[in-house]
Amino acid sequence: MKQKFPELDTTLPIGVFDSGVGGLTVARAIRDQLPNEAIIYLGDTARNPYGTKPIKEVREYSLEMLDRLVAEGVKMLVIACNTASTAVLRDAYERYDVPVVEVIRPTVRSAIALTRNGNIGLIGTQATVKSRVYDDFCAVHGGVDLISQAAPRFVELVEAGTTAGPEVEDVAKRYLEPLIAADIDTLILGCTHYPFLQGAIRHTVGPNVALVTSDTETANEVYRVLRKLDLLNPQDHPPQIRFEATGRDTGSFKALAQTMLGLQIDSVTRI
Ligand code: DGL
Repeated sequence: MKQKFPELDTTLPIGVFDSGVGGLTVARAIRDQLPNEAIIYLGDTARNPYGTKPIKEVREYSLEMLDRLVAEGVKMLVIACNTASTAVLRDAYERYDVPVVEVIRPTVRSAIALTRNGNIGLIGTQATVKSRVYDDFCAVHGGVDLISQAAPRFVELVEAGTTAGPEVEDVAKRYLEPLIAADIDTLILGCTHYPFLQGAIRHTVGPNVALVTSDTETANEVYRVLRKLDLLNPQDHPPQIRFEATGRDTGSFKALAQTMLGLQIDSVTRI
């Protein structure tokens, strides 16, 4: 990462991108920690889900979305999607003249700091799990075992607005039982959609497994990077989030985002 971005205007928004509504968990965490920052949230709802697609395709879509945010004028890019981060991890740093924060590094760092018995569980999309990107980060640290499980049904449930109840718990049980049997003491929720399912996930794993979510960890990283680069917005103004989506049905995106963020959203622009 370049160390200085003197040309960047600190009052510009942060661009946050995901395949759909999952990145809202990250946007919400950023808003909680940095209420003075404006945000543009972009969901590629027309092509969601990413997690079942080949990495090459996800890479193409992700760069297109990130290019778009840069063209709109942002001071930072946040890739609020594990699958997209997996696909563009290297390219994004080289390609853009704004700082880039992705979700994987901060999340894995926190899981490694938390585990006591060295058995870390990972749930994520098929693309993220298959890429073994989390395995690579864990291998660098040594002394930890990563037990992975792809959990594609979770994204479908969240995109449909179903985040609690027996159906979610049944699915959670199916995905998480093998990880519990492997004696994990830490579980990475390696998809930004999953924090919306945290109640059912916690209910399934019980109180003794530490949950690491990419929303909080990524927001912590956004804070750290903006602070380090002297890019925090000094102005004191009410939080402002601009919503954009690629899908035709901006109405359902708006309704879902409103429920999930607990915020009144004036409009969602289709791009
Ligand atoms: N929210 C995305 C992630 O963190 C994935 C959702 C999808 O499959 O599109 O991986």
